[in-house]
Order: sequence, then structure tokens, then C-alpha cells
Amino acid sequence: MNVNGVEVIRVAPDWLALREPADAVARSRDLAAALERSLPVGGTRVIHDLGGGTGSMGRWLAPLLSGPQHWVVHDRDEDLLALAAADPPPPGVVTLEARLMDLARIEADDLAGADLITASALLDVLTATEVERLVSVCVAVGCPVLWTLSVVGEVAIVPADPLDRRVAAAFDAHQRRATDRGPLLGPDAVDLAVAAFRRHGAETVVRPSAWRLGPGEADLAAEWFEGWVGAAFEQDPMLAAEAGDYVRRRLAEARAGGLTVSVGHADLLVLP
Ligand SMILES: C[S@@+](CC[C@H](N)C(=O)[O-])C[C@H]1O[C@@H](n2cnc3c(N)ncnc32)[C@H](O)[C@@H]1O
Repeated sequence: MNVNGVEVIRVAPDWLALREPADAVARSRDLAAALERSLPVGGTRVIHDLGGGTGSMGRWLAPLLSGPQHWVVHDRDEDLLALAAADPPPPGVVTLEARLMDLARIEADDLAGADLITASALLDVLTATEVERLVSVCVAVGCPVLWTLSVVGEVAIVPADPLDRRVAAAFDAHQRRATDRGPLLGPDAVDLAVAAFRRHGAETVVRPSAWRLGPGEADLAAEWFEGWVGAAFEQDPMLAAEAGDYVRRRLAEARAGGLTVSVGHADLLVLP
């Protein structure tokens, strides 16, 4: 989709719903615990979730943090924000506000008073300029930052197939593709964010947060596989022409729960 001449990648709510349980298992609980220990005690904690989509991050993290919390979910997609508002973390201790926001334009003032800034599955769909800007804004606000589930370009499918590596390489190239906003970061996002925080004198702690999909997650594995090969073929049409049998066979295996899929991600915590 193109908005004001800029390519906007819309994310399907069904996809976010399908991946939410695997995301919840994969995110680092160690980092969440370290974060909880660092947050101020007493009062309502104000948490800003960047690119929050349907609010999955809050549903996972809010129960792991103590005390009352006010979540502000920022996204440029109104439809996803409506779903976030309709399904907030447990009411009573948590309130939620949905805010329409293009992160390319966010300012420190928009996050003033934040006790925590989160994001999930966001960094890899941004450009270097956008992530560097977000880092500067977060450093100016001066609160902890927890950015989870950025892809790191490590995919392993068991049993393996000789074509897996070519598809993975084409997928990574697609993740780094040029857009109107500049090249996307894809698997380079975490390293770039760590370096940007370091330039500001802030140290990051990074933990792996891979999906490990087995027979119990066959629906997600099959949907992920379709998206994975689809992106790879868009990047490398020659590969698409050669891989018809591969796709049919692997998809049937995935749907039947016959594949174990590991998709590498990383979580990043900054405690100022
Ligand atoms: C892969 S989804 C992840 C959603 C959610 N954080 C989760 O973990 O389920 C990425 C989200 O970032 C949002 N997004 C991407 N670029 C954005 C931008 N420049 N401004 C605001 N939102 C953006 C998308 O609309 C989408 O909701």
C-alpha cells in the first residue's frame, strides 16, 4: 500500500493473532524480570508500545510487571489499533490508550513521562534512519527500553531440504530490500540498534527469542512457510520457477505437523 507516496507494509490481523501464542513463548522472560526489577515502585507505570499492532506485547508483558499500568499503543494502522483497544491486558490494573502515530515522525515529547518504551516485531521492518531516530528519541526520554522479536536471519527446518538455504538467502535479501524510505534493516536491525544505543553511551542486553515450532504449531508453521517462500520468490523469480515441487511438498509436510521450524529472533533491553 502507498500512503502519501511512501510504501506502507500492512500487517494482517489474522497473522498477528496466529503468531501471538508463539511470540509469548519466545520472548525472553529473563529480560522481563530484569526490567521489572529496574522499574520505579509505586504509582502507575506509563508504558509506550511502538508499532503495537493489536496489542500483543501488552497482553504478554503487563501480567509480568507489578502494579497499575497505563499502556499507550502507537501504530499507523487504525484497524489494528481498534483491535488493541478491544482486547486490552487484564482490566483493573491496566488501562490502554490507542494512538495513531507514524513512528517516522515521533518526537521525545510524544513519549514524555514514559516509564518504559516497548516494541515487538518492529525493528526489522524499519530503515536504519528510522531505528536511529527511535533510539535518539528513547535516549532523550531516558527510560528503559524493551524491544522484542526482531528477526536475525537464522532459520532451520528439520528435516532439512537442499533448497532451504537458497530460499533463506532470498528471503533475507527481500527483508533488506530497497523501499521509498530506504533499504529495510531485516536481520541487521538488532546490531544496528545496539550500535546506535552504544553511540549514545547506553548499553544493551540482547537475548535470543527464537520461535520453535513443532507439530503443535502446524498452522503457524504452514502460514509462516507460505510467507517465507512468497517473499523469497518475489525477490528471486528464477528460484520460484525451479521450486514448485519443493513448495508443494514442504507445505504439505508443514500442514501435517511434519516439520520442526526454528525462526531466530532477538530481544533487546536497555536500562539507563
Ligand atoms: C509485525 S507487526 C507487530 C505488531 C505487534 N507489535 C505484535 O508484536 O504483534 C509490526 C507493526 O508495526 C507497525 N508499524 C510499522 N511501521 C510503522 C511506522 N512507521 N509507524 C507506526 N507503526 C508502524 C505496523 O502497522 C504493525 O502493526
